[in-house]
Amino acid sequence: MTRAEDIDAAARMLHASKVAVALTGAGISVDSGIPDFRSSGGLWERFDPMEYATIEAFVSSPRKVWSMLFEMMDVVESARANAGHTALAELEAMGRLDAIITQNIDNLHQAGGSRRVIEFHGNSRRLVCLRCGREYAAEQFAALRDMSPPPPPECRECGAILKPDVVLFGEAIPERAARDAAIMAASCDVMLVIGTSAMVYPAAGLPVTAKSRGAKIIEINLEPTHLTGTLADLTIMGGATDVIPALVERVRALG
Ligand code: APR
Repeated sequence: MTRAEDIDAAARMLHASKVAVALTGAGISVDSGIPDFRSSGGLWERFDPMEYATIEAFVSSPRKVWSMLFEMMDVVESARANAGHTALAELEAMGRLDAIITQNIDNLHQAGGSRRVIEFHGNSRRLVCLRCGREYAAEQFAALRDMSPPPPPECRECGAILKPDVVLFGEAIPERAARDAAIMAASCDVMLVIGTSAMVYPAAGLPVTAKSRGAKIIEINLEPTHLTGTLADLTIMGGATDVIPALVERVRALG
């Protein structure tokens, strides 16, 4: 099928659905200037995730992990929502998308206008103290970034080095996000899987749950993944900022 035929088929599935969910990954934010993790030039090519993105690494070498986190947060904080994010918000406003389950920590779905966003891997705008449990907004420590090198933020209550409220490898998914995502995956009849390599569990298990409950899986990606031609009922090859707006316009045209 041509790209237009794929988009038309996907729009008809969305138009006919009762509960539609989007599972998004780093690919949807690439056009906002945030590199993904596993494409060439991705973050994990420059930082070994086992050395920089596990909870063990954070506890044993917080300053080293913060050197990567500062670089990631500089990019995230200067990023703006793109046409893919805003198109998904339009789909929600049209009553055609019930929730977004995002693996991204960049807050761009909310910035793009989406209201029902399940933050499966947390959100880098919040910092937490692993020792005393206090929570902070990351912007409360923005002045640190003027120092070179910036020191890691410390808890104002107990002095411990704070951690962004994001899920590192070896950490559990936040309980409420895990529950809400499981409910949405089990109850949807269409799941859009956008800009994710679908390699990291438990997020990668969500399309499997949806499929097992009879949902249609529509994949949007620049390149094939292991879902392509297997779990995915339809794969639309292309950039998220091109495909999603075209898909939303087609759904709108169907009335
Ligand atoms: N449009 C659509 N898809 C894109 C685009 C784009 N413009 N750019 C890249 N992609 C696709 C890539 O082809 C790839 O399949 O997005 C996917 C990104 O995959 P990853 O880099 O593995 O990112 P993601 O799937 O979100 O990773 C999941 O792994 O490291 C952990 O916690 C991290 O949340 C992350 C999780």
